[in-house]
Amino acid sequence: MIFFKMPRFKKYQLRLIIICFSTLMLMAYWEQIDNNIVTHVMSFSYRYLLNNFTFINASFRVNPEDAIKNNNRRYLINHEGKCGEKDILLLLFVKSSSENFERRQAIRSTWGNEAYIESTLGVTVRVLFALGLHPEAEQRRLLKMQLLFEDQRYHDLIQQDFMDTFHNLTLKLLLQLGWKETYCRRAQFLMSADDDVFVHIPNLIHFLQGFGHSNAKDLWIGRVHHGSPPVRDKESKYYVSQDLYPWLSYPDYTPGSGYVLSRGVATKIYQAALTINTSFPIDDVFLGICAKVIDIFPKDNAFFSGEGKAPHHPCIYNQMMTSHGHVRDIREMWKRVTEAEVGQIPSGLIWRLYCTVTKVRLLCVPFLSNSYPCKAAFFEYNSY
Ligand SMILES: *[C@@H]1O[C@H](CO)[C@@H](O)[C@H](O)[C@H]1NC(C)=O
Ligand SMILES: *[C@@H]1O[C@H](CO)[C@@H](O)[C@H](O)[C@H]1NC(C)=O
Ligand SMILES: *[C@@H]1O[C@H](CO)[C@@H](O)[C@H](O)[C@H]1NC(C)=O
Ligand SMILES: *[C@@H]1O[C@H](CO)[C@@H](O)[C@H](O)[C@H]1NC(C)=O
Repeated sequence: MIFFKMPRFKKYQLRLIIICFSTLMLMAYWEQIDNNIVTHVMSFSYRYLLNNFTFINASFRVNPEDAIKNNNRRYLINHEGKCGEKDILLLLFVKSSSENFERRQAIRSTWGNEAYIESTLGVTVRVLFALGLHPEAEQRRLLKMQLLFEDQRYHDLIQQDFMDTFHNLTLKLLLQLGWKETYCRRAQFLMSADDDVFVHIPNLIHFLQGFGHSNAKDLWIGRVHHGSPPVRDKESKYYVSQDLYPWLSYPDYTPGSGYVLSRGVATKIYQAALTINTSFPIDDVFLGICAKVIDIFPKDNAFFSGEGKAPHHPCIYNQMMTSHGHVRDIREMWKRVTEAEVGQIPSGLIWRLYCTVTKVRLLCVPFLSNSYPCKAAFFEYNSY
């Protein structure tokens, strides 16, 4: 028989152990805590105490005539009748670049497959790829024929004549909002996503259907960044100069990798965007600025991914909305997720408990690549 003798600690030893343990925990979580402190100080002081973003109205407004001039870009490829007279639940824009043919193919054959969605989920979704022009003249010339060819086959490209660069994404946002206003007003929701994002379309559709026609009036949903500070590091692609944005914090916004707007919000934001200077180069922050002008706030859903890929587990798939950073593994993800759908997690207390524990294990670890936050383990996000 094995006999354990409990070690006996003196009081001071016990205290020492507790202190060591707490220090270790603090160190392990420091990055998150630190980040949170900064964000919250920013967010609280800026969002609630110092300033209520009234400056936005004064600083970004432009003369409406100038705005119309700037926002009327020519379509090079268009599908005016794409939405037709059907009842469309979701108009889904994928922000792509001319050369990303492979990514578009992967999306067409997986989560962006309109025919699959119609037959399996019973709703009509329209998927369009939003494009600008390749910034290099030679590439532009080569890609022109390829794009026309691709479009003849799939009828799902929308291209306008601006250079497709990171800092022109604001123009691409205007393309999406403007296109919806002009050609697809009736669609109940608008989603914008990057072409390296995996959208769990069955979950998303169920979620959106849950709103019905009336409740969805003022919906803007995604992973909300509360009071993020502008990046002042000149090396970063997110760099924004003091001249362009002198304040300490951005209004709340959802990252451009994936978010959803209801019809009403999309219209209001588009109208606001026509009164705002479009030279602000970061599209998702620009959307936040426009929304602030009309006092619309985003709703947070923790299962819209931040920067990172979601961990693989049926308990995660069960609630996943988007996962970011997928290029080569889109088809594999789709297979996994649709198979997981078939063998869905049974409901019931035991399984819910099991999933919570699993999610805590997967999400509540320090230094995890930013996919879903720890709180995602505890809340049911997909029902409002
Ligand atoms: C925002 O701040 C301005 C002055 O700083 C104040 O006049 C205005 O009432 C504030 N608005 C709200 C909604 O708190
Ligand atoms: C954005 O597109 C316009 C129109 O093609 C172009 O003149 C401008 O240089 C582009 N801006 C950036 C930052 O690429
Ligand atoms: C928009 O802002 C930029 C940079 O701050 C400025 O140069 C430009 O004149 C503004 N445009 C309009 C139409 O006010
Ligand atoms: C900004 O200005 C517009 C029109 O001048 C006004 O309707 C709106 O309420 C203002 N928004 C804020 C947040 O002050």
